[in-house]
Amino acid sequence: MIKDNVFIFDHPLIQHKISLMRDKRTTTKEFRELVSEVSMLMAYEVTRNLPLKEIEVETPIATAKTWVLAGKKLALLPILRAGLGMVDGMLSLLPMAKVGHIGLYRDPQTLEPVEYYCKLPEDAEERDIVILDPMLATGGSAVAAIAFLKSKGIRNIQFMCLIAAPEGIERLRRDHSDVPIFCAALDQCLNDQAYIVPGLGDAGDRLFGTK
Ligand code: PRP
Ligand code: URA
Repeated sequence: MIKDNVFIFDHPLIQHKISLMRDKRTTTKEFRELVSEVSMLMAYEVTRNLPLKEIEVETPIATAKTWVLAGKKLALLPILRAGLGMVDGMLSLLPMAKVGHIGLYRDPQTLEPVEYYCKLPEDAEERDIVILDPMLATGGSAVAAIAFLKSKGIRNIQFMCLIAAPEGIERLRRDHSDVPIFCAALDQCLNDQAYIVPGLGDAGDRLFGTK
């Protein structure tokens, strides 16, 4: 944790893969694989504090007192569309998690998020929700997604991204200080089109090859 519930993962494998993702020569196929791999590595860290309960298991030799996950179940909530790239990596470690979807795009003129789709698991308010989005730029999309979840009575929310700008962290801390932020890199700033500098460009376009 650096401060205020903001966690930056400095694991060498994560840093190495983020560097490959930044490279403009990285192909769509490679980019997609890297997003998935980094998400899986981050899942390991994000779930570090999940509660455990003790159970008994019969091994071929004896009875073992041992630990399994306890407490609330998880749900993943990718922000469409770039958040989709993080789902498979997370599910490979958390195969029982439910997956909701929220569709937001940044209006290119106002840079404000516009919601166009939402489907949550039926029991979302009983679950711990991890919002997935590779980029935290102005923070507008993250703040809107969290406000939407809170309006549905959902309280246990975490936000996970790959690259964050200081501006996005600040906005999220101001509007939703209760929501932990997990990211792999904290970059310098935003440019005049609200792209993260140095960043990796448009995550959605790089994931889906649309530009
Ligand atoms: C990108 C990104 C975030 C958002 C971040 O999505 O995936 O959702 O921008 O910017 P913000 O912090 O300033 O809100 P985009 O609007 O490009 O849509 P896409 O995922 O469909 O490409
Ligand atoms: N969205 C992206 O995909 N990239 C950025 O740098 C900022 C917002």
